[in-house]
Amino acid sequence: MSKNFYITTPIYYPSAKPHMGHAYSSIVSDFFARFKRNDGYSVQFLTGTDEHGLKIQRTAEKNNMKPQDFCDQISKTFENLSKTLNLSNTDFIRTTEQRHIKSVQHLWKILEDQNQIYMSKYEGWYSVSDEAFYQPDEIESKENKHFVISSGSPVEWVEEESFFFKLSEWEKPLLKFYDENPKFILPEGRRNEVISFVKNGLKDLSVSRKTFSWGIKIPSNNDHIIYVWLDALTNYLSALNYPNTKDELYKNFWPADVHIIGKDILRFHAIYWPAFLMAAKLPLPKRVYGHGWILSGDEKMSKSKGNILDPLEIIDVYGLDTLRYYLLKEVSFGNDGNISQEKLESCINSDLANNYGNLCQRVLAFCEKNCGSKIPTNDFINDDLEILKNFENLAYLRDLIDNQNINDYMKFIIDMLFSSNKYFNDQEPWKKKNDKNRLNTIVYTALDLIRKISILLNPVIPDTTLKVLKIFDINDDKLKFEDIDNHKFLESGKNIGKLNILFKKIEND
Ligand code: ME8
Ligand code: MG
Repeated sequence: MSKNFYITTPIYYPSAKPHMGHAYSSIVSDFFARFKRNDGYSVQFLTGTDEHGLKIQRTAEKNNMKPQDFCDQISKTFENLSKTLNLSNTDFIRTTEQRHIKSVQHLWKILEDQNQIYMSKYEGWYSVSDEAFYQPDEIESKENKHFVISSGSPVEWVEEESFFFKLSEWEKPLLKFYDENPKFILPEGRRNEVISFVKNGLKDLSVSRKTFSWGIKIPSNNDHIIYVWLDALTNYLSALNYPNTKDELYKNFWPADVHIIGKDILRFHAIYWPAFLMAAKLPLPKRVYGHGWILSGDEKMSKSKGNILDPLEIIDVYGLDTLRYYLLKEVSFGNDGNISQEKLESCINSDLANNYGNLCQRVLAFCEKNCGSKIPTNDFINDDLEILKNFENLAYLRDLIDNQNINDYMKFIIDMLFSSNKYFNDQEPWKKKNDKNRLNTIVYTALDLIRKISILLNPVIPDTTLKVLKIFDINDDKLKFEDIDNHKFLESGKNIGKLNILFKKIEND
C-alpha cells in the first residue's frame, strides 16, 4: 500500500481578494492533509492561483494594470492568506509560471497527436464570470439580458474560429468510469447530477480563444490561446513536474487522491478533466469532492454579489482556530452552510472554552495540586478501561477521513470530550485524597484522554492542540495519529508542562 497522499484545492482566480469561500476549501483540504500526515503519509498538498483568461484580463484593464502585474499583486494576497490560515500546503502554483506553461503546452500537443483536437467555429454563449460555454437550454433571458440559470452569471454571445476537443467521444468511457468507480464523485447527490448531465449527451468542447491574448499560446498556432479551464486543470499535473513523468513527484503522487472543490466547478473536474486525461492516456484522479457553498444570508457569497465575508476580519475577532473549528464542525460537509456571529460565539463558548478548554484546564490544575505536575501512576479499573476503549477503533476513524466524512469525525471528538468531562466529574478525584492509588489513576486516565483527543483535534485546530501536546513533550514531528491507540501510554513519572488559558469565553451583556 502506498503511503503517499496528494490533495489539492481549486486554484483561485486572483480577480479580487480572497473571501470566506476560498478560505473554506483551503481549510477543509488542510484538515485532510494534516490528518494524513499525522497518519504517517507523505503528503503533497497543492493550492494556488488561476491567472489566465478573459475575466482576469478585463479586471486588470479595469484597474489600469497589465494582467501580469495585477496577478502578481492579488496572487500575493492568496499566498498570504494560506499563511494566515496556517495551511500546510507543500506548494503554491501560479498558472503564469513557466513550469505550468510548459506542462499545458505539452498536454495540448499530446491531445493533438491523439487526434483529439480539430479546428472549427464556436457560436454560442459564454460566461466570463464562470469562464464557461453554455448550451442555449442553460440560459434564461431577463429584460434583454442573458444569464446562466444555474449560476446566475451573465453571458455574452461569442462567434469565433476555435479549436475543439472531441469531448463527445468520451461520453461512454466516462459513464463506464463513473460506474466502475462509484466514489469518484462525492457526495453521492453530486455524482448523480454529473451522470445525468453526461447521459444527456456531450458536445465537443471549444478549447481555444483568439479574440483576446491573456493565456497560454497554442504551440502550433500562435493566433490562439488555450481555453482557461484546460490551462487551469492541468495545474494539478504541473506541480508534480509533468511532463517529466519520470520525476519522483509525478511517480509518487499522480494520480491525485482527492481534488477538493466547490460544487460550482464540478462539471470541469468530473467531466472535462477526466476526459482530457483519458484522451491523453494519463491516469485519472481517484476522487473529486464537490462541497457546498458558504452562504451569506441565503445567497452564495461571491464577489459579484458584493456579500463577502472577510476571513481576516473573523480571525481578527475570534482567532484562527475558532474559525477552523467552526467551518469543520458547523458546516455539514457537502451541503451549504453559513456563518453567523451567534453560532461562532457558541462555538467558542460551548465547544472550545467549556468543553475542550475546560477539560484541559481542570485536569491540569488538579494534577499540579495533587500530583506535583508529574504524570502519575496507574492501576486501571473497569471505569477507566471502558472510556479508554473508545479509542480502539482506528480503522473507523481512518475510514471516515477516507470518505471525507468530516462531520462524523467531529462528532466522535465531541462525544469523547463530553464523556471525558463526565468521567472526571463522576470519578470525583477530589474525594479520593485518602486513596492516592485511585486518585492517581483517575488523573492519569484523564491526562491520557486529553492527549488522545488533542491528537484527533490537531488537524482541526493545529495551533491550540500543539500548545496542549507540548505539555506532554509531543511536538509537530512526534505527533502520530496511531498514538491514540490504547497500547501507547503516557510515561508515568514524567514532568508535565504548564498550560495557559486556551480560549477566552466571549461575554455579551
Ligand atoms: O472557479 N462557498 O476559481 P474561483 C464555498 N479558478 N466555497 C467557495 C465559495 C463559497 N461561497 N466561493 C468560492 C475558479 N469557493 C477556478 C478554479 S481549479 C482548476 C480552477 C471556493 O476563484 C470553491 O472551492 O471562482 C469554489 O469551487 C472555488 O472557491 C472557486 O474559486
Ligand atoms: Mg467563481
